[in-house]
Amino acid sequence: MTTLEPSDKALVPFVSVDHMMKLIHHIGVEQMMTGISDYIESDFKRWELFDKTPRVASHSEKGVIELMPTSDGDVYGFKYVNGHPSNTKDGLQTVTAFGLLADVATGYPVLLTEMTILTALRTAATSALVARLLAPKGAHVMAMIGNGAQSEFQSLAMKAIAGIDEVRLYDIDKAATAKCAANLAGSGLKVVACETAEEAMLGAQIITTCTADKQYATILTDNMIGSGVHINAIGGDCPGKTELAPAILHRSEIFVEYPEQTRIEGEIQQLDPDHAVTEIWQVLTGQAKGRSDDKQITLFDSVGFAIEDFSALRYVRDQIEETGLFHPLDLLADPDDPRDLFGMLQRAK
Ligand SMILES: NC(=O)c1ccc[n+]([C@@H]2O[C@H](COP(=O)([O-])OP(=O)(O)OC[C@H]3O[C@@H](n4cnc5c(N)ncnc54)[C@H](O)[C@@H]3O)[C@@H](O)[C@H]2O)c1
Repeated sequence: MTTLEPSDKALVPFVSVDHMMKLIHHIGVEQMMTGISDYIESDFKRWELFDKTPRVASHSEKGVIELMPTSDGDVYGFKYVNGHPSNTKDGLQTVTAFGLLADVATGYPVLLTEMTILTALRTAATSALVARLLAPKGAHVMAMIGNGAQSEFQSLAMKAIAGIDEVRLYDIDKAATAKCAANLAGSGLKVVACETAEEAMLGAQIITTCTADKQYATILTDNMIGSGVHINAIGGDCPGKTELAPAILHRSEIFVEYPEQTRIEGEIQQLDPDHAVTEIWQVLTGQAKGRSDDKQITLFDSVGFAIEDFSALRYVRDQIEETGLFHPLDLLADPDDPRDLFGMLQRAK
């Protein structure tokens, strides 16, 4: 068999897990989440330009596999992502992902990258960007309920972007809390491991729920939530998968990414389909109000939207040329004569 060298047109920059980790260490994890949150903010501010659709979900008994596409007219992006809460029992992750950017003018891919780690960064960057907008003034303590894969990223982004200096951890699995506390040692955050969710919420102005269960769960009950807090609800992100008691939703001002998707997947699937919500992009552009007073409970009903992945992909694409942290991947067949694909195959015999 003849081996033909791929042409430049065949090659697409591919960021492996190894290169992604090197990139994050090169930039710094907090700095990279801050950079991604700036990209998300600037993309949310041009919200109306984007193609938007609720993500395309394929549900099974054990989990979900989703495709998340969007385009700003010049660049197209999508992410493949799964959510399988029982995976960790078998030594697998709940969430894994990869993503792609393409040039709209030619349709040619311009970046393929791991996104399991990048999703954790973009999710935390989005949470912290929103907390900076909505949390009460001077918020500096966060309760972190659910201490799995996302939890350290959430904590560090909230430190770098929203200004917290203390995180109070709780998980039904003490080993998860111990892991998170150990990983955050030396981060500059005061870390307190707690025995109950109530204890974790003592003195917290920001409450993050980031648990994984494939069913309606009640991580926060109504009596646990006092006035004036900001709730960052991450784990309720699928039909039938929520974390908050409905009574909390009725007491909160609710903020969402894209209502058409959140009404299917978020905490608000528990409410009437016309319950009032505010879109984050409108707060960022000044078209809608954020927090209106110190007593208000603000709730970010986060499910994760395609534009956040697009922003993270754009950010990575802008970093790799200078750092060289990618492999040129022989991804696209490139015959000398574009119509002679078969001839190219024949010559490879
Ligand atoms: N909104 C978004 O953009 C977004 C993005 C990524 C992941 N997620 C969701 O975030 C959640 C967490 O993801 P992960 O990768 O960290 O999952 P993970 O499985 O690694 O961690 C989840 C943790 O929650 C704990 N937990 C389960 N029930 C609990 C309870 N009742 N009280 C306290 N802790 C409890 C588990 O013990 C586990 O440690 C998942 O539901 C995932 O689908 C959302």
